[in-house]
Amino acid sequence: MESKHDLSLDKSHRVLSPRIAYVVTTVDEDGRVNAGVFSNLTSVSTDPERLVLGVYKPWDTIRNIEQTKEFVVNVPSKNLADKVWICGDKYAGNPIPQGIDELQVAGLTEIPSTKVRPPRIAECPAHLECAVVWIKDVGDHCLVLADIVAASYSEGAFDAELMPNVLQTQPLFEIGRGMFTYPKHGIEIDREKAREHVDSWLKKHNVEMPAALKQYGKFSKE
Ligand SMILES: Cc1cc2nc3c(=O)[nH]c(=O)nc-3n(C[C@H](O)[C@H](O)[C@H](O)COP(=O)(O)O)c2cc1C
Repeated sequence: MESKHDLSLDKSHRVLSPRIAYVVTTVDEDGRVNAGVFSNLTSVSTDPERLVLGVYKPWDTIRNIEQTKEFVVNVPSKNLADKVWICGDKYAGNPIPQGIDELQVAGLTEIPSTKVRPPRIAECPAHLECAVVWIKDVGDHCLVLADIVAASYSEGAFDAELMPNVLQTQPLFEIGRGMFTYPKHGIEIDREKAREHVDSWLKKHNVEMPAALKQYGKFSKE
């Protein structure tokens, strides 16, 4: 069998690379806009629609979220890589003082959101407006659980069946240390072939299909 190398634990999160580098906008209690870049972000519930965000405790983003309980997730395209890097200012080693709007420094355009105070970023093809459910201390980061209260996208970012056109919008994924990548190819599964494979494997091994499991076929078709 192929041998495996142990990865040092302080670098273990790099196994999860690449991850989308989302730009999160917030406002402080005086309404001043702030932007930061976050890859610790994922959907965790679809009914209700909820996501989690992991934020390092010293960042302005978590202070603003604690104050105003709102944020906006903006999904950048690969052509915004240099501007995204500027919004990740402290991590990138080009810190921008508190109270200065990173979007202005980076040359990104703010447009109002529909349900929350932090703005959307016009150049980003998709946005989630979020309202905080709870914030938990989980180590050197805080974990924020939020309801998605509005979602929007630019023309062409989704197709008629609301599938994301990622080969066109090319979301930006961070590999690490200022290296990014983006999707260039799609892989379409032959779903019928996969189903036949499972059916024939179960038959060969005399496994009965419980009726309750049949409902799960719907998810990959929605
Ligand atoms: C690609 C990328 C991904 C990042 N992901 C995270 C993250 O998931 N969590 C985090 O706390 N900081 C993350 N950072 C660092 C923050 O974006 C950065 O330090 C930023 O300056 C924080 O801004 P703020 O102090 O205005 O909130 C990331 C930075 C980059 C460039």
